Amino acid sequence: MLWVKSLHIVFVVTWFAALFYLPRLFVYHAMLEPGDRAASERFKVMERKLYRGIMTPSAVLAIGFGTWLWLGYGFAGGWLHAKLAVVAALVAYQLWCGRLLAAFAHDRNTKSHAWFRWFNEAPVLLLLAGVILAVVKPF
Ligand code: HEM
Repeated sequence: MLWVKSLHIVFVVTWFAALFYLPRLFVYHAMLEPGDRAASERFKVMERKLYRGIMTPSAVLAIGFGTWLWLGYGFAGGWLHAKLAVVAALVAYQLWCGRLLAAFAHDRNTKSHAWFRWFNEAPVLLLLAGVILAVVKPF
């Protein structure tokens, strides 16, 4: 079980690395001067590779190993139900990032860099909740 838990934690870490970095790229992308096409194209490539190459595989593996722990080793309790709600919020956040990515890719972003700075804070709260629920198991 400890191998499965180790891999679970590793992919949770890589998932959050992408969940923190992609909205930060959106902040700088939204700050570009309208005519700065070269920089905009560069951001598009970085955002797409991060979303498809790191964020999505990490989400699948973190959730896969977490589910293996849950169903394979019989974990149960209120903390796990609350944690699954945190995971549902993380998946919804990731899908929202996917829509924002598509808007940038088609030069149709309408949100300001200030909006993305606030948007970038949400994963911090979800990380806190997820780790405290998994380690402390308060209920
Ligand atoms: C569907 C998704 C997930 C499921 C089913 C799941 C399930 C589990 C289970 C059953 C454990 C073992 C608990 C124990 O050994 O006491 C665990 C450990 C852990 N999970 Fe998850 N998890 C999921 C997603 C996440 C996410 C998104 C985070 C981070 C926010 C996270 C953070 C952790 C941590 C830090 C541990 C180690 C806890 C410890 O050893 O005390 N998990 N997870």
